[in-house]
This record gives sequence, structure tokens and C-alpha cells, in this order.
Amino acid sequence: MEIKKVGVVGCGLMGAGIAQSCAQSGYQVVVSEINEELLNKGLGMIKTQLAKSVEKGKLAKEDEVAILGRLKGTTNIEDFADCDVVVEAVVENMELKKKVFADLDRICPAHAVLGTNTSCLSVTEIAMATKRPDQVIGTHFFNPVPVMKLLEVVTTIVSSEETLNTVKSFGESLGKTVITAKDTPAFIVNRLLTPLMLEAIRMLEAGLATREDIGNGMVLGLNHPMGPLTLADFVGLDTMFYITEAMYAETKDPKFAAPLLLKRMVTAGHLGRKTGKGFYEYTRLAAS
Ligand code: 3HC
Repeated sequence: MEIKKVGVVGCGLMGAGIAQSCAQSGYQVVVSEINEELLNKGLGMIKTQLAKSVEKGKLAKEDEVAILGRLKGTTNIEDFADCDVVVEAVVENMELKKKVFADLDRICPAHAVLGTNTSCLSVTEIAMATKRPDQVIGTHFFNPVPVMKLLEVVTTIVSSEETLNTVKSFGESLGKTVITAKDTPAFIVNRLLTPLMLEAIRMLEAGLATREDIGNGMVLGLNHPMGPLTLADFVGLDTMFYITEAMYAETKDPKFAAPLLLKRMVTAGHLGRKTGKGFYEYTRLAAS
């Protein structure tokens, strides 16, 4: 299938990154938000990133103009009517995702492939909200999307080989290496990453090590780009909490149970970088 136009539902951190990557790779892109304020915020993030690249001499001014010319923001999901591929990147709420997919199924052309950027919810359950479950697949990107070279594609027992092949080529056209996971809790990457981050929080909670020593241990001892607590702040502690809750609900495995400290921080609104406070404070950025 030839892909000309890509739709992205949600212009938060992930949606904006996905929309930017698609427009940079030459696709016509329409990206939606629920209101003008959130849409302008998301489009603003993209414009800032592109402007930084121009400033650094990594992107030509005319390319910036062309990328922005391929990108259209909307608050009307009906604007996805001529998309060949749509990637959903709304918050991790199953009921909301099912509603979005039922709408996309009604609006999008019959040939369109629908991807979900969920990091933890069942892709099969999302697919069954449509009348085309064979054309629904997981398209799990990594933050910051324009920088991270991975796309984790999640297949289900109802998704077709043709859909997988379409999404693999699409991912490669964005410059990503594509890995394929089955629809199991948290797929490949978060299944490995979540226990690491949760164990770091438990160590901190139990007073076994300082946040700096945990960070330095992973950054200097294993060459991770960030320590696990810095990464948790970067991902967002609310997102991490949803992921752990979803994994625990599906598996009942205690290794995925959220530490009380994580739960309390989310309740207190200490969500990491986005609120200026998590395991670190972000008036200045943490190094590890
Ligand atoms: N958007 C676009 N580009 C960005 C960016 C963003 N939000 N943030 C950084 N960049 C670019 C910078 O412009 C810079 O580009 P350049 O090399 O062309 O100048 C490059 O990335 C490196 O950035 P910096 O020099 O500012 O900083 P660092 O070298 O420290 O890199 C980092 C920043 C890429 C975020 C690096 O720290 C890193 O790789 N961290 C780990 C990220 C990670 O693990 N992500 C996965 C999270 S898990 C996930 O997403 C799954 C979900 O389900 C939870």
C-alpha cells in the first residue's frame, strides 16, 4: 500500500514527536487535539524543535518551511477521512482509546491501517472496538520520537501479515529500526525497563542508596544515557504508574506492583519533568 497521508491522534509529547517524524520523512500529516489550546501547545513543541535544528545548522531553513507545510493541526477528527495510516497517541485509558478507534474506523478509508502508541494496554482489546481488527496494530514509539531509532510493532492474534508488512515499511521509512512484539503486557522494551525503574524506586524508598548513586551506577557502570530515576521523570511518573498498574492487573506478578512512593508522588502531582518536580527538580536539569 502506498502511504501518502498520515494521521496522528493526540499532540502531546508522543503525538507531537510522531507527527514531526512523519512530516520530516516527507508524509502529509494531520495531527489532532481535543481543543485549540492543547493543539497550539503541541504544534509549538514541534516548531521549537525544528527551529533549534535550524539554529544548530542541522536543518536548512527551506526544509523547516517544507516540513511545517506538510503538517496540519486540527480539532476535528473527521479530518482523518483521507489518511492511509493513523497513529493514536492519546492518554493510556482503555475506554478513551476504544472510543477513538471506533471513530477512526467510521471515518477512515477502508484500506487505512490504524496503529496505537499504547505502551501497556492490550492491542487486541483496542482492535476489537473496530470492524477491521485485522488492520489494527501496535505502533509503540520512544521519547523523544525524532531522536529515538526504535519502533516496536505489536501484533495480535487478529492482525494480518499485510498490516504488519505495511507498518514495518512505514517505520523504516521514518528511519526507525522495527522490532516485533506479541500483544503481551508491556511488549518487549517496557517489560524489561519497568522492573528496572521500579527496583530503583524501591531502593530509594528503602533508603538503600541515594538517587545520585543509583543514577551514577547505571550511567557510569552500564553506559545508560540516563539513570532510572531520571528516566522515570523523563517518561512522566503518571505514565509509569499507568504502565505498572496495567502490567500488574494483567499478570498479578509482584515485580510489577507500583511502590507506594511512586503512587504518593503521582497523587501529589510530582510527575517528573513536565511538572518541574519528580525524583529531581527541574529548575535546572538533572545530569544523571
Ligand atoms: N525532540 C527532538 N529532539 C530532541 C529532543 C526532543 N524532545 N530532546 C533532545 N533532542 C535532540 C537534541 O536536539 C540533540 O540533537 P543534535 O544531536 O542533533 O544536536 C540530541 O537529541 C541530543 O540531545 P541533547 O544534546 O540535548 O541531550 P543528550 O545528549 O543528553 O540526549 C536524550 C538527550 C536523547 C533524551 C538522551 O538523554 C537519551 O537518549 N535518554 C534516554 C531516552 C530514553 O530512554 N527514551 C525512552 C523512554 S521509554 C519510552 O519512551 C517508552 C514509553 O512507553 C515509556
